[in-house]
Amino acid sequence: MVQTVFIKHLSEHIGETIMIQGWLHTKRSSGKVAFLQLRDGTGFVQGVVTKAEVSEEIFARAIALTQESSLRVTGTVVKDERAPSGVELQIQDVEVVYLTHDYPITPKEHGVDFLLDHRHLWIRGPRQRAILKIRAEIIKAIRSFLDERDFTQVDPPILTPSSCEGTTTLFHTQYFDRDAYLTQSGQLYMEAAAMALGRVYSFGPTFRAEKSKTRRHLIEFWMIEPEMAYTTHEESLVIQEQLVAYIIQHVLTHCAIELKTLGRDLTKLQQVIAPFPRISYDEAITLLQKDGHEIQWGEDFGAPHEAAIVEHFSRPVFIERFPTTIKAFYMKPDPARPEVVLCADLLAPEGYGEIIGGSQRIDDPDLLAARFAEHELPEEAYAWYMDLRKYGSVPHSGFGLGLERTVAWICGLEHVRETIPFPRLLYRLYP
Ligand code: 4AD
Ligand code: MG
Repeated sequence: MVQTVFIKHLSEHIGETIMIQGWLHTKRSSGKVAFLQLRDGTGFVQGVVTKAEVSEEIFARAIALTQESSLRVTGTVVKDERAPSGVELQIQDVEVVYLTHDYPITPKEHGVDFLLDHRHLWIRGPRQRAILKIRAEIIKAIRSFLDERDFTQVDPPILTPSSCEGTTTLFHTQYFDRDAYLTQSGQLYMEAAAMALGRVYSFGPTFRAEKSKTRRHLIEFWMIEPEMAYTTHEESLVIQEQLVAYIIQHVLTHCAIELKTLGRDLTKLQQVIAPFPRISYDEAITLLQKDGHEIQWGEDFGAPHEAAIVEHFSRPVFIERFPTTIKAFYMKPDPARPEVVLCADLLAPEGYGEIIGGSQRIDDPDLLAARFAEHELPEEAYAWYMDLRKYGSVPHSGFGLGLERTVAWICGLEHVRETIPFPRLLYRLYP
């Protein structure tokens, strides 16, 4: 029996006769030869069926193959310098597993809504496959970076009784006879975990009922949230920039074929070396005003502001110390200047926006109690969170890295909808 091999490994089998199990991506044929673009999930390869070298029956079967038919193909692996995979398959036999009719996604251009309606099929294409592979490698890189640095993964709950990032984007649901919300962030639970395990991180889905229809907002997105006991804001920034630089290096090393499929400009990624530039919120405001933007101290940045700021840098840039009034209740004020908090947003280059939000957390119980009052948050729901300040409170910091925005940036994508297998968007819950 011939050995079954993944397309990805074909170059290790030159001269051998093997079998691949996959699907027909595209086909070109003349009376004498058929070129089959085959895919099996691990890659794409061209298979050639030559009429003179196979039985009439097999050639007829190859000619009749339709897009996305599933098939088992037996052939000899030959070297081909011109092919992206470096090899080609000289086919001896084709077994049809399922003959597909009227596959909806044809090689012609389709509108985005059509593609999103067929997302379950759209992900079979080379571009979507490349993005999903890179997403998986980014996750792998994040995990190995954190695991190697004594972080422990801790899983926070998805159903929560209270908000973390403001009450306006809470996703309401019923928890038997009580109200509950889908988590906006695991942070508060990670703070508890950091007091138990020192350095921790969560990695899971988070939800924001954001009514914004932009290129960067998803309703359901994945976040990596490290939290570190005995760690200051400045120390947290060092971890953040090292993490991002590590992710980029990992992807450059392990995803060369996928980045090529996407046509990504690698020089842009190669520049991403730590440390990253840091500017204060105040400096960012001055910069924007000089560029002609009508923004005043105390206002938050919108997408055009972020895009204008990063124009001045070729690497990701930290914006530090935002006004206390526009940031979350848990952020620690700068002792030297309490009107700003010890926080930073990391903006990706090329206009991809904020990929990390982080801060040092309030460790003083009295100040935290005052913040609950100011933000009109029900103290009972946060009693456990207050306990963390009552029992062995320490300076601690953490951050959240948005996975989809990071994938969009690294892959060079227009929109975050392609960064997640099944995007949940403002007007989309299907498929
Ligand atoms: O800045 P955010 O809201 O921070 C937090 O949730 C903190 N509790 C994190 C922490 O300190 N543990 O969100 C963090 C990141 C953003 O920088 C962005 O990359 C991403 O999450 N993000 C979104 N990504 C896609 N769609 C959305 N609607 C997003 N909202 C935030
Ligand atoms: Mg933020």
